[in-house]
Parts: sequence; structure tokens; C-alpha cells
Amino acid sequence: MRMRFLAPVVMSVVLLASCGGGSENKTEKKEESAATSETPVDNSMVTPGAAEAAASKGAALIEQKDCKTCHKPDTKLIGPGYKEVAQKYEATDANIDKLADKIIAGGSGNWGEVAMTPHADLAKDDAKEMVKYILSLK
Ligand code: HEC
Repeated sequence: MRMRFLAPVVMSVVLLASCGGGSENKTEKKEESAATSETPVDNSMVTPGAAEAAASKGAALIEQKDCKTCHKPDTKLIGPGYKEVAQKYEATDANIDKLADKIIAGGSGNWGEVAMTPHADLAKDDAKEMVKYILSLK
């Protein structure tokens, strides 16, 4: 009679203990995973994420403009392929600036006699985004 009365009490103590232990472990794990996932999130906001965002902005601008009537990523069309351009120029600030001006002003001479049409309505910053994207296509 006494044991029967005690059994559920003992059981619930055991259960409580194991539950308590379990939830403690869970919180520890949560903290751990929060700590480990924080670092990559921070990194992606500083470098790779930012680079990707910039590249996709340039890609989107190129899509909106007439560039693809004369340029393709891999092969020469009327103008050089973007990968050829990326191989010819390093992605330095000076080159990005120079190529952005060239897209806006148009002209020939670096790849042959055929001239690129001017894009006078293009903002310099947008042209730079496009060049950054092109030069990322090595
Ligand atoms: C009418 C055809 C045409 C269009 C449209 C055109 N391009 Fe070009 N692009 C050319 C030609 C031709 C060249 C080679 C010029 C040369 O020999 O200096 C060139 C060269 C380039 C170069 C390399 C410049 C250099 O001096 O090496 C870049 C970068 C470029 N184009 C980007 C663009 C972008 C971005 C657009 C869209 C805004 C665009 N092009 C639109 C024909 C075109």
C-alpha cells in the first residue's frame, strides 16, 4: 500500500529530473548554435554578401540596357565578350572608373575598329556597377 502510493511520486521525480536535464541541454545547444551561426551571418554582411549584391545590381542594370545586343558573357559579338574584358582588365578602381567612362562616352580602339555606342543617359555609379559585374566574370 505504501509503495503503491510512493511509486507515482518517485516516477514523477525521476521524470522531472530527466525533463529538467533535457531542457537544460536544449538551452545549451540553442546557445551554442546561436553563437556558431552568428559568425557566418556577420561575415556575409560584410564581404561576400555585399559583393554578391553589388554584382547582381550590375547584372540587373545590364539586363535593363541595350548591352546584350552587342555583348555576350562568353563570346565576341559586336563588342568583346564580358569574360574577355575581365581578363584584359584587373578590377582596380582606376580601371572600373575608366571603363565606366568608356561605356558612357562610347568609342573604339581597344578591341578594334568597331565603336560602342555612347550611353549618355547612364549614371556614372550605375556604369561602375556594370563594370564591377563584368570584371567579376573571369
Ligand atoms: C552597339 C553595340 C554596343 C552596345 C549597345 C554596347 N557595347 Fe560595349 N562595346 C562595344 C564595342 C564594339 C566595344 C569595343 C570598343 C573598343 O574597341 O574600344 C565595346 C567595349 C565594351 C567594354 C570594354 C571597353 C574597353 O575600352 O575595353 C565594356 C566594359 C563594355 N563595352 C560594356 C558595355 C555595357 C555595360 C553596355 C550596356 C550599357 C555596352 N557595352 C553596350 C559595343 C557595344
